[in-house]
Amino acid sequence: MKILAIETSCDETAASVAVDSGCGVKILSNIVSSQIDIHKKYGGVVPEVAAREHVLDILPVIDEALEKADIKKSDLVNKKNVLDAIAVTMGPGLMSSLQTGVETAKSLAYAWDLSVVGINHIEGHIYANFINLEKDINFPSLILTVSGGHTMLILMHGHGDFEVIGDTRDDAAGEAFDKAAKLMGLGYPGGPVISDEAKKYIVHNTQDISKITLPRPMIQSDDFDFSFSGLKTAIRYKIEKDENWQNKIPEYCFEFQEAVVDVLVFKTIRAVKKYNIKTVMLAGGVAANSRLREVMQANVEEKLSDVRFVMPELKYTTDNAAMIASAGIFRAKQNDFIDWKDLKADCNFGFVK
Ligand code: KG4
Ligand code: ZN
Repeated sequence: MKILAIETSCDETAASVAVDSGCGVKILSNIVSSQIDIHKKYGGVVPEVAAREHVLDILPVIDEALEKADIKKSDLVNKKNVLDAIAVTMGPGLMSSLQTGVETAKSLAYAWDLSVVGINHIEGHIYANFINLEKDINFPSLILTVSGGHTMLILMHGHGDFEVIGDTRDDAAGEAFDKAAKLMGLGYPGGPVISDEAKKYIVHNTQDISKITLPRPMIQSDDFDFSFSGLKTAIRYKIEKDENWQNKIPEYCFEFQEAVVDVLVFKTIRAVKKYNIKTVMLAGGVAANSRLREVMQANVEEKLSDVRFVMPELKYTTDNAAMIASAGIFRAKQNDFIDWKDLKADCNFGFVK
């Protein structure tokens, strides 16, 4: 099974070719054209600008992905079965961004006579964990899915069988990083820059404890929901009262990151115990955060000795098409195809039955 995947849900134009490897997938090519530098000057993604860039980038990105995977377009035109299907992100995401990927996939599926798999972006993030996987995942697994738009605890009972047990009530984890960074004038996207600043504090303070204290929102609530907007307000109040805050940016970043990581890890561990989870996974852009990766791994190993911990390789955490290819391969193996005529961008596209 070999699949071409396309992802254009936000500000990355991406294409990838992947093959089935049994318990996981192998990536033959993974091309990402990022618009971060373009959106940086606006402090966030501007949908109209993103849409225009996708239109310019999509065909060169697909060409490069095919070329790197040694697939000749002439073979596709002549319908020589060099690919089994096209997978594309149908939603959620920015409507005008999604449309470029979806309409391109539709045209190529028709022209090259290929089957189509429609993928939910969050499901794609989850399947980043199956790239280069060498041992079968045992179910049920629990995935902490943390991106710019989502903070979710998702139960995975089997392939294509998901249940959301916790969601964000307001700002997503990545959004909280972005807003806190903006508040401190650190630029966009906020996650990587807050993480870098926090590392400076860790290097100078061996005890990993900050004198600045921020709340751990909803850490003790009975449910598995999250709320991060209060944390952003808390850091704003602290800064407003602190004349010297600009000299303490690494410490503010450290404490902010600790607060987010504490809540995410604590609630994940509690859910693992409640649902008898066999595998814990991370997914989404915030899964690139080294502190989250390290603290989650340490907690799973110390507190849950029978539970396996899996996380995606760094390059597959933020938006890319390899993860869409991975999800596409597993959907295709279940014959979960969609007629190209029914393919449409859908901001509310679900993946939970
Ligand atoms: O999954 P993603 O690439 O796009 C969405 O689907 O939203 O996630 C982007 C988010 C941004 O909010 C960004 O600040 C955050 O992921 N992020 C990080 C890190 N790298 C990216 N957050 C914390 N630490 C990081 N190292
Ligand atoms: Zn994403």
